[in-house]
This record gives sequence, C-alpha cells and structure tokens, in this order.
Amino acid sequence: MPSLKLSERSPERDRRGAEPLLIVRGLTVRFPVGRAGFWGNRRLFVHAVDDVSFEIFRGETLGLVGETGSGKTTTGRAILRRVPIAAGTITFKGNDITHVDGDNLRHLRRDMQLVFQDPYASLNPRMKVLDLVGEPLVVHGVVRRIREARDRVRELLELVGLPADAVDRYPHAFSGGQRQRIGIARALALEPDFIVCDEPVSALDVSIRAQVVNLLQNLQDRLGLTYLFIAHDLSVVRHISHRIAVMYAGKVVEIADRDEIYENPKHPYTQALLSAVPIPDPALQRTRRRQILRGEIPNPVDPPPGCRFHTRCPIAEDRCRTDPPPLEPKRPEHLAACWLT
Ligand SMILES: Nc1ncnc2c1ncn2[C@@H]1O[C@H](COP(=O)(O)OP(=O)(O)OP(=O)(O)O)[C@@H](O)[C@H]1O
Ligand SMILES: [Mg+2]
Repeated sequence: MPSLKLSERSPERDRRGAEPLLIVRGLTVRFPVGRAGFWGNRRLFVHAVDDVSFEIFRGETLGLVGETGSGKTTTGRAILRRVPIAAGTITFKGNDITHVDGDNLRHLRRDMQLVFQDPYASLNPRMKVLDLVGEPLVVHGVVRRIREARDRVRELLELVGLPADAVDRYPHAFSGGQRQRIGIARALALEPDFIVCDEPVSALDVSIRAQVVNLLQNLQDRLGLTYLFIAHDLSVVRHISHRIAVMYAGKVVEIADRDEIYENPKHPYTQALLSAVPIPDPALQRTRRRQILRGEIPNPVDPPPGCRFHTRCPIAEDRCRTDPPPLEPKRPEHLAACWLT
C-alpha cells in the first residue's frame, strides 16, 4: 500500500488567486418539526441554516464561530452531505456535489471527513484502535480484511503522535487528548483533502487543547489539508484559522481574514463575541469596554424579521427590524451583514 501522501504546500502561498476547494452558495437547511394551525395545515421548520455563502481555499482553515444553535454543525453536515439540503449549491473541486448520489457520493465520502467534538462518545469502546482507525479502509474497499490495514494504521498513529503499539488497545486506555488523536487518525485514513473539525477541542481539558490544535495545524502543513474548523468561541479559532466566519441564528453575519476580524470587527454581534475573549495584556483588558450580550437567542422556528440580531443589538434602528441586511463588503475581503456599520 502506498505511503501517506505528503505535501510541500504552504497554505498561505496557495490561498490568494487560487480556485477555491469548496464553494457554498445560498445554502439552506430546514428541519421539519411538526405542524401548526387549526387544521394542522401549516408545517413548521427549524430554520437551521439560511442562505449561507462562503468559500474555502485549498490548504486554508476557515473558522466558523457562533453561539449554540446558530447552525454551525448543520452547515458542516450539509457540506458533507449528511443532512438534506433545501436550497443552494455546494461545489467541491469544481464539481457541483449538492445532489450527487450512488458511487459519486461514496467517492466524495472518502475525500471529505469529520472530526467530532466528543472523543469519548464518538469512539466505540468495544473496538480496538486497529478497528477504529482501519474501519474506513475496509468499508471503502482499500483493504479486504482489517488485518491487512495494520501497517497503515500504525503509520497513521505515528502521524498523529501516538505510539504504533496503540493498535491493539481499546479507547478507554487513552486520555481525552489521545482519544481525539485516534479520531483524527480515523478521519485521515482515506487521505481526505477536506475535513470538518466540529469543535474538536471543546470537550478536552484546557491544558491539552493547544496540543491538539497544533497537531491539526501540523497535519495541514504536511498533508495540504483544508479545514472548516467549528468553535463556539473566538479565542479557540484565532490560532488555527486563516479566515473566520461568524454565524448568528442560521446566517453568516461576518466573514474576513483572521486578524481583520479581531482588529476591526464590523458586526455588532462579532463585537459582542470578541468582548468576551480575554486579552493577554491586563492593562488593555482593563480599559476595554465590555459589551454583554443581552436577550435570548431567537426561536429558530420563527426567526425575527429584518436582521435576526436586531432583538439583541445595542444599535438597532427601525430599518433593522424590517429589512434583512445583505452580507456585503465593508472593506476589501471583509464582508458583514449590517445596515449600520
Ligand atoms: N436533526 C435535527 N432536527 C431538528 N432540529 C435540528 C436538528 N439538528 C439541528 N437542529 C436545530 O437546528 C439549529 C442549528 O443546530 P446546530 O446543531 O447546527 O447548531 P450549532 O451552531 O452547531 O450549535 P452548538 O454550538 O450547540 O453545537 C438548532 O436550533 C438545532 O436545535
Ligand atoms: Mg454544533
């Protein structure tokens, strides 16, 4: 079996001017949640993702942040074609994959993988590491029997910083950080180009988060991977992201280069999220005006008209309550959806 492909590619070098690896346009996902009305004739939907557009360049990490329920996981799952798509298109490597099925979808599943949030829940405790990491190779017919995958699994374990003799152990023998490494090895088994990392460090001890983030970054550089990296919190994505998209109630409200988002946030929601991120400089931290987010996250079954953030926005005006603001350039390569900034 050929060894893992290694890449000399530098993410930064490839990013500008290149064709995006992934293009998402107008992505909309709704989940049916029952009926309303006297005759039960009005169907209700959770508007989980609504008209979301962005692209991710080869070798790039796009951070996706937002509060709970804002639609981050659903966006990732829709790209991986694991939830039904109500509207919009997804283009991967130049091909429209929005509705592919059969062999084409199976082929796509090799190329796009998912790293889960919870390395305790996502790894079957009754399976040995050999089976956990090697299973995708059997499912996709790369090897006929799991024992033929042994060398490859050992190679994958070394790649993620685990001892090769971990193959014969069970997940309970490992710490949270090590388990997440097993999850990452499993995601890498089929040599994907694109990985959705759905809060891969949120369930881990703060002291080991940086190690796992560094590992993901190191793998990106070595293997030329492209990531959608989901997190609640702007402090986690800063280190790893090249660009950051901020979601609120199913909408992307701002998207820009990483440093631009932190230094020049345009959307009041991004500003509020940022004011919760600690600044390492205590003098600066003391002088900063803290903006507390008031109010409830809107009901996703019946999102507010106009700007979805207007019910919590400190600067909202009449127009914001009726007209949805478009996601538009505020500065070069910096988009935000706000009438007032
Ligand atoms: N299978 C489903 N059926 C019905 N509603 C769903 C389903 N999956 C997600 N939702 C709803 O869609 C909305 C978006 O959920 P999603 O999990 O994408 O948010 P998230 O940003 O990933 O949140 P978290 O930070 O908690 O992981 C939420 O209101 C959620 O309850
Ligand atoms: Mg989620």
